[in-house]
Amino acid sequence: MATDSATSDKRREGTRAAQLFWTRYFTVYDTLNQARPYQAMLARQLELLAPVEGERALDAGTGSGNFAAALARRGAAVVGIDFCEPAFELARQKAPGARFEFGDLTCVLAFPDNSFDLVACSAVLHVLSRDEQVFALSELARVLRPRGRLMVTAFANGFSAIQVYLETLKAERDATGLVAAALQSLRYSWNTLRILYYVWRIQRQHRRGSYAYVDETILGNLLSGAGLEPRSVERTLAGQCVTALAVKPISSRDAE
Ligand SMILES: C[S@@+](CC[C@H](N)C(=O)[O-])C[C@H]1O[C@@H](n2cnc3c(N)ncnc32)[C@H](O)[C@@H]1O
Repeated sequence: MATDSATSDKRREGTRAAQLFWTRYFTVYDTLNQARPYQAMLARQLELLAPVEGERALDAGTGSGNFAAALARRGAAVVGIDFCEPAFELARQKAPGARFEFGDLTCVLAFPDNSFDLVACSAVLHVLSRDEQVFALSELARVLRPRGRLMVTAFANGFSAIQVYLETLKAERDATGLVAAALQSLRYSWNTLRILYYVWRIQRQHRRGSYAYVDETILGNLLSGAGLEPRSVERTLAGQCVTALAVKPISSRDAE
């Protein structure tokens, strides 16, 4: 029993440390909204999920609500969950009509089976261990209705933040010219450095084995293992992330 309580104390401590990490990261995270590769990824994720007015959408690991807001703009009825509640302040400003509530993806979710028409989980899975990913995806599949769509994006094996940064500079130069791009990068240099620091900390957890990145095959297998049918798997964010779309099949019980 003493071991059980030591384990849950350690787990609670780990969760608290992660919440603090994300609370600090969210003071600069939305600088990413200025980065064209990040915006291109959001646009592609939206295109894959193709939300329709009135659909019930879950954004799992919603953070500061960038994708939740994009879904809400398309008329979806959005619920955003995250275990870092301070981020909801930003999320609520972006998507006032959406509902944001606490949810830990390593625990059973507080929604009945088949609650949502679509589920998004963007840039979250890679900050879980492989076992946690399997569990989280099984829960996301459970709350998705038959024929519902799940879109998931995670860091790819070999993820390079520098590569994303270089692609961001190049895209900005191509769109606005060298001088404007240089001024833009100067304006955001402090926030960029801080983002690179937080990503370095994520990379360190990955090297230590606490987090697990994916490739196309791993992500496809994780989705199939959760009982979903992968429809597409592709690279996003300057090739540094893997994004997949999967559909929940109709079981013989659903068909009756
Ligand atoms: C990189 S942010 C992504 C936020 C948002 N989905 C986006 O694409 O902008 C990762 C998010 O995952 C959340 N997160 C990490 N582990 C979690 C867990 N076990 N349960 C719920 N949320 C978690 C963090 O709090 C953070 O908001």
